[in-house]
Amino acid sequence: PEAAARDGKRSNFFSEQEAWEEQQIRKSRLHFGSDDGGRAGGGYELVLEGVVDFVKSTVQAGAEPDGEMDELAEAIDAKVTLQRELQDERKNLPVYKFKDDLLKAIDKYQVLIIVGETGSGKTTQIPQYLHEAGYTAKGKKIACTQPRRVAAMSVAARVAQEMGVKLGHEVGYSIRFEDCTSDKTVIKYMTDGMLLREFLGEPDLASYSVVMVDEAHERTLSTDILFGLVKDIARFRPDVKLLISSATLNAEKFSDFFDEAPIFKIPGRRYKVDIHYTTAPEADYIAAAVVTVLQLHVTQPAGDILLFLTGQEEIETVEEMLKQKMRTFGGKMAELVICPIYANLPTELQAKIFEPTPEGSRKVVVATNIAETSLTIDGIKYVIDPGFCKLKSYNPRTGMESLRVEPISKASADQRAGRSGRTGPGKCFRLFTEYNFRNDLDDDTVPEIQRSNLANVVLRLKALGINDLVSFDFMDPPASEALLKALEELFALGALNSRGELTKTGRRMAEFPLDPMLSKAIVASEKYKCSEEVVTIAAMLSAGNAVFYRPKDKLVHADTARQAFHAGNVGDHVALLNVYNAWKESGYSSQWCRENFVQPRTMKRARDVRDQLEALLERVEIEHCSGVGDLGAITKAVTAGYFRNAARRQKDGSYRAVKSRQTVFVHPSSGMAEVTPSWVVYHELVLTTKEYMRQVTELKPEWLLEIAPHYYQRRDIDGHEPKKMAKGKGPAPAPL
Ligand code: CDP
Ligand code: MG
Repeated sequence: PEAAARDGKRSNFFSEQEAWEEQQIRKSRLHFGSDDGGRAGGGYELVLEGVVDFVKSTVQAGAEPDGEMDELAEAIDAKVTLQRELQDERKNLPVYKFKDDLLKAIDKYQVLIIVGETGSGKTTQIPQYLHEAGYTAKGKKIACTQPRRVAAMSVAARVAQEMGVKLGHEVGYSIRFEDCTSDKTVIKYMTDGMLLREFLGEPDLASYSVVMVDEAHERTLSTDILFGLVKDIARFRPDVKLLISSATLNAEKFSDFFDEAPIFKIPGRRYKVDIHYTTAPEADYIAAAVVTVLQLHVTQPAGDILLFLTGQEEIETVEEMLKQKMRTFGGKMAELVICPIYANLPTELQAKIFEPTPEGSRKVVVATNIAETSLTIDGIKYVIDPGFCKLKSYNPRTGMESLRVEPISKASADQRAGRSGRTGPGKCFRLFTEYNFRNDLDDDTVPEIQRSNLANVVLRLKALGINDLVSFDFMDPPASEALLKALEELFALGALNSRGELTKTGRRMAEFPLDPMLSKAIVASEKYKCSEEVVTIAAMLSAGNAVFYRPKDKLVHADTARQAFHAGNVGDHVALLNVYNAWKESGYSSQWCRENFVQPRTMKRARDVRDQLEALLERVEIEHCSGVGDLGAITKAVTAGYFRNAARRQKDGSYRAVKSRQTVFVHPSSGMAEVTPSWVVYHELVLTTKEYMRQVTELKPEWLLEIAPHYYQRRDIDGHEPKKMAKGKGPAPAPL
């Protein structure tokens, strides 16, 4: 019927050209002029929009629309054809055949576990089926959670396209610091962390008729907490439907947790995948991966390649290496289209991986774990798997969390291999030995909740009124040691009182979508009268690590520009503040960014984040105040959150974390790398060749006693003073 209606529209348009044109122009005002974003009618919105654009541009150019009619008709045809193709593609997905059965099962059972091979259409189709079946009537919404931001965004974009609506209208997404939804939104893709936040404002999720916890097998920290919360909601909201969807076959665990909920299996079509192993372990998997890509490119028949690496840095390195190799081979080889994909990849570049590969060339997608199950890229025939991923690990003794490159699990390796056999027989090249696979890899990845710092989660649960964490319904409970550590940490931050109850400070902290330490710094900025500055610093810290860039041919210029922000050895935190303020002064200019070797993208993001944090300041009633120039006040506020990250310089120039006694170093990119003050506070540790402190600022040790008396005693500060000095000068020297 839709296609018929569209055709109807077209023939009208040819017979009653003028009336139609006038109507389009009027609609164009709705689209571009008013702030309601245009209500030009559901499924045709995008089709019409193209037409409206066209009419507008011809009218503006003073052209006679008459003469352009053929082109206009072609433009419409193209849009209509695209829609039709999309609808055909939808019908070809494995889930389509089970649409009716699935809807029946959802109608019958309140909780349903859905299992289906990656790419079978769970994420993109099921919410649409539910929408078509009326689950979004009466103003109710469908939530679909994703463990990854990029997946939430890209899936929402795809579904909006399939439904022919503008992203952010009927279909939208919500990720931290970015809400692309509106009053009209009925299908909402969101990160699991965002749904968790929504419980704060709406504890029963009353505005949702269906909650789909997607990619459940990933077992992220937020997904695990969601399991407990949605299970609870289902008990007192008989009208809500819960879907737990997963790409792996061991769904019994989910079913057991959700009181024996039925399992709906979508039989996948998976072609045979040939697995190849290396005969000896690879010492350098990056180099091995590059060689393998090129070998495949030269020797294998058409088909795209998917290479799994562990993070942005590796991906960029490999991209560079491949480009260089291709240059040296000149025109002797077919073209290789290199498409990186990782969490922080700018949105405009994300779409590239889904673009069809040009005739005669081969695409190589270089991805993190994100392509393991969250994103399906069509046309992949070859998978290269070095067998590693970046995993969070947590040491409850020191309270330190770090990201480490670790071997993947057998389950992951099989998922990765499966990505090559989706549309035809595939091949997977594992850059490790078969012996490694059988003997060294774990069966499954340990759930994130068992390898994380839980302070954030505990704060969030407390804010939801869940006090007794020991009896919270966890699918796999975290170690009690880790829970205890989190309680201690929140107590030290003043978020909990000695009975473990949320304090006013804790309640305010929970409003910010940030780590408890950073939220605390913001809340503390009230006391030190510098909320303006601390919010800017928090925004810069949250916007990403890439603030500055150093083009190879302009290293000196870049470094000089960068040093200017550190003038007076103000420390990295205040340097970030200086960057932001100077950019603001310039009228948020991109030209300014170029001149100062600052990433415009990071700055724009920082500005967005800042706006949102500022709105939250209002919500928790923290006064906007600016302690212009009072660096001490700013550092104190930062320290109020980060006092655990205090370190003291050792004789050999390294630092030692005051409490954990860990040896750490100033990151070479820090403005403090040459200054090396006796005491510092740092934002985070990154482990590369050594444990490096990133974002470092000088500290007066007595501030630790003043700001965190629960945490530090005088002996912590005087204790490991180099012995000689302490002896020689009689009583312990007054610090600084
Ligand atoms: O969730 P599941 O893995 O079962 O499948 P899906 O993500 O719903 O993907 C179904 C189809 O949509 C696949 O063929 C994808 O290639 C396609 N898709 C796409 O073209 N662009 C996206 N951003 C997401 C999915
Ligand atoms: Mg999916």
